[in-house]
Amino acid sequence: MNGDAQLIGSTATGALSVGALTVPGRAFLAPMAGVTDLGMRRAAARFGAGLVVSEMLAADFLEDAGSAARARGDGLDLHVVQVAARDPSAIADAARMAIDCGADMVDINMGCPARRVVGGYAGAALMREPDLAASLVRAVVAVVAVASAGRVPVSVKMRLGWDEATKNAPEIARRAELEGAAMVAVHGRTRNQFYKGAADWAAIADVRAATALPLVANGDCASLPDARDMLRLSGADAVMIGRAAVGRPWLVGEIAAGLAGAAWRAPAPGDRTEAALAHLDALLCAMGRDKGLRHARKHLAAYADVAAAEGFGLAPAERARLVETASAEDAAGLLAACWSAPGGRRAA
Ligand SMILES: Cc1cc2nc3c(=O)[nH]c(=O)nc-3n(C[C@H](O)[C@H](O)[C@H](O)COP(=O)(O)O)c2cc1C
Repeated sequence: MNGDAQLIGSTATGALSVGALTVPGRAFLAPMAGVTDLGMRRAAARFGAGLVVSEMLAADFLEDAGSAARARGDGLDLHVVQVAARDPSAIADAARMAIDCGADMVDINMGCPARRVVGGYAGAALMREPDLAASLVRAVVAVVAVASAGRVPVSVKMRLGWDEATKNAPEIARRAELEGAAMVAVHGRTRNQFYKGAADWAAIADVRAATALPLVANGDCASLPDARDMLRLSGADAVMIGRAAVGRPWLVGEIAAGLAGAAWRAPAPGDRTEAALAHLDALLCAMGRDKGLRHARKHLAAYADVAAAEGFGLAPAERARLVETASAEDAAGLLAACWSAPGGRRAA
């Protein structure tokens, strides 16, 4: 579908201005609940991601200790916190907390398709109610302007629409711009598609035509050629990468460098090992050893699988132990071994 679409072109290179903020690169790490923990965001940032976005801060759970932890950005130069709610005063509370946690940008979730979220009429369900969606943007822009003295811009992340019959992302983006949003990101699927089919990058061009705001295209970007196609087809200014960066957080920086025409030196095995170990360490510090290790499993598996796909990796028994071990030391040793042997450790 994407290959057949008309090329509309994009001049995206280098830094991007978003409100008062200068974003140094045009490839961003997408928010992923349960995945883009601080360790992963730090890993993506250290390799040159332009922006990294936190897991969503749901207004219903602001009192939970985990919420404040998820909204922290220690060690990040640019820290984006995503907020989610249905009610203007609740989302304003979440935005205020994001600023208290040091956010340099606050993003509003209007794209989450999960039944648990849209059942509360937040996330993508907001796209069915443009007036309410606009009032949420207004509430966040107002509270953030005061709390940050105008320093922090507000962005909105959405899908193409609720379903095939209601692709109203252009209208929502235009309304968001009128309410003072400074950037819009669009995942090229409808809510009812969830993650099925291919993201329609060309359809994002309708949003390009509707708003002058910096526009970010998202969905199925896994390489620099993908990013270039995405920008050409959508006319967006930047790309956002989610699933393809799991186990490969350097991918975002690689794409940012490529879009800027800058030299990119693929991280050496030692750099990858160091980043993965720092990620594991961040999880253990933030959540404690047992919970941190349990949370880390999806990342550990992904690091091992990416290493294997790149000609390194662990023997099957070692990989199984990596994702099951209850010992943080054991996990760290196996994680370090992922990139230790070119050709993999299949015989080990
Ligand atoms: C596990 C998971 C959790 C996600 N959580 C969020 C979220 O909290 N907020 C949000 O706006 N999008 C969320 N998303 C959507 C991603 O940000 C992104 O839009 C989507 O994965 C498409 O991009 P990709 O193909 O590069 O992964 C999530 C996606 C995944 C896979």
